[in-house]
Amino acid sequence: AAALTLDCSLHWVLRRKLLCASACLRHRAAMSTLLINQPTYAWLRELGLREENDGVYNGTWGGRGEVVTSYCPANNEPIARVRQATTKDYEETVKKAKEAWKIWADIPAPKRGEIVRQIGDALRRKIKVLGSLVSLEMGKIYVEGVGEVQEYVDVCDYAVGLSRMIGGPVLPSERPGHALIEQWNPVGLVGIITAFNFPVAVYGWNNAIALICGNVCLWKGAPTTPLTSVAVTKIVAEVLEQNNLPGAICSMTCGGAEIGSALAKDERVDLVSFTGSTHVGKLVSLMVQERFGRQLLELGGNNAIVVFEDADLNLVVPSTVFAAVGTAGQRCTTTRRLMLHESIHDDVVERLSKAYKQIRIGDPWDSNTLYGPLHTKEAVEQYKAAIEQAKQQGGTIVCGGKVMDRPGNYVEPTIITGLAHDAPIVHKETFVPILYVLKFKTEEEAFSWNNEVKQGLSSSIFTKDMGRVFRWLGPKGSDCGIVNVNIPTSGAEIGGAFGGEKHTGGGRESGSDSWKQYMRRSTCTINYSKDLPLAQGIKFE
Ligand code: UN1
Repeated sequence: AAALTLDCSLHWVLRRKLLCASACLRHRAAMSTLLINQPTYAWLRELGLREENDGVYNGTWGGRGEVVTSYCPANNEPIARVRQATTKDYEETVKKAKEAWKIWADIPAPKRGEIVRQIGDALRRKIKVLGSLVSLEMGKIYVEGVGEVQEYVDVCDYAVGLSRMIGGPVLPSERPGHALIEQWNPVGLVGIITAFNFPVAVYGWNNAIALICGNVCLWKGAPTTPLTSVAVTKIVAEVLEQNNLPGAICSMTCGGAEIGSALAKDERVDLVSFTGSTHVGKLVSLMVQERFGRQLLELGGNNAIVVFEDADLNLVVPSTVFAAVGTAGQRCTTTRRLMLHESIHDDVVERLSKAYKQIRIGDPWDSNTLYGPLHTKEAVEQYKAAIEQAKQQGGTIVCGGKVMDRPGNYVEPTIITGLAHDAPIVHKETFVPILYVLKFKTEEEAFSWNNEVKQGLSSSIFTKDMGRVFRWLGPKGSDCGIVNVNIPTSGAEIGGAFGGEKHTGGGRESGSDSWKQYMRRSTCTINYSKDLPLAQGIKFE
């Protein structure tokens, strides 16, 4: 029996050794197959990225949570890994961010603007390499990756100007010897939750504006684009550190739903800015509302282009291709519904199908490519399901409709005609490149179809009729936050307020007076007289 035991334990030791060795080998093999270790992707190191990256920043880098691998959507190869935040990391980060606010809030706004100017310049220096990372990790084409870093740069410039302009009016008081002043103060800590599809720009809009207003930020990017979050935060952190400012002014905790809900429920987070699906946005919104917190929501869209009989079709076709196919249909501003006047319906469908056939599909970082992969395998499944449902509901596939036989998450850009304007699939935002073409007869009909969906983000008409243009902009026209004429639904500039109504969440980010969402307003009445007159002429004697 003793011999048997010995034999068994020897066997066990050997087995353990073997297992260990094979685990080590597997680990080494996994490391060497990471794209970051291949010479072609050596440029990733220019962004300070490594095989395994810290997914928490609060002045120092850390993270004790789960290690996630980021995959390239064009080939599903692992790029590198990020160690996410635990709730303990989150706790520490919030505390440090709150401490950092005490310093940041005391810095005059134009001086805060100077820091934001430096962030913009630092991004300018890295724009190509950061754009390449976006392309590699999110899957959008290189020019679009660079384009969204450009949005961050632009909003930094915009915020620098704002830092000398924001403020409230001095209003006329009805009482003698009284001043009525509107004072704006920062809310404090802004929690920013962003989506995979704009992993740089959406953080940028929030970050630049929140900063000049005197807030500190805590960012949780999408769990599938953690390398971009880390790379952006490294650029921002370097600026803060060079200026001897606490890094926690721009904190980051990479993570999933656990960190997201912690942030949404946290009374110390003075504003929760959430960009993502309507479904998750609703969950976040309820958590924030439950504590009477402040929120800024940028949720789904179901955007339409409406083409009238007098439209310049030379504008319509490229606009539709850009807005329906660009970013592989993964913008919240993507055109999902194309409403064509019956007189031009067949002509436009034919021209569009021709244009779709010429779309150059390939690796997103290849300069010749116009159309890349979907971000995830799940999105490919959603595409397949939507195609099936559209067919069942009476749709005809004019173009595309299939998953492509190549590595990565590629699907064909698709045009579907013949569906009813209120078919369930048409009213649903599926985050893929499927365009539903609808045929209409009258302006009234087209405007009402535009507005009948739950979402209210972006909308466009193509026409030369000035009366129609102003009806479109007016009370009975589009009910969306973005209302365009003779340009597509996507590709908004940063100077306007960005966001939409209804199930899109009602928030406004980026330009115009969006800064007000990042500040709290105090109405201040100051008596500089020796009397105490009461408002409304009340005598209380
Ligand atoms: C988004 O898809 O979340 O207007 C933002 C656009 C871009 C921003 C889209 N400037 O298409």
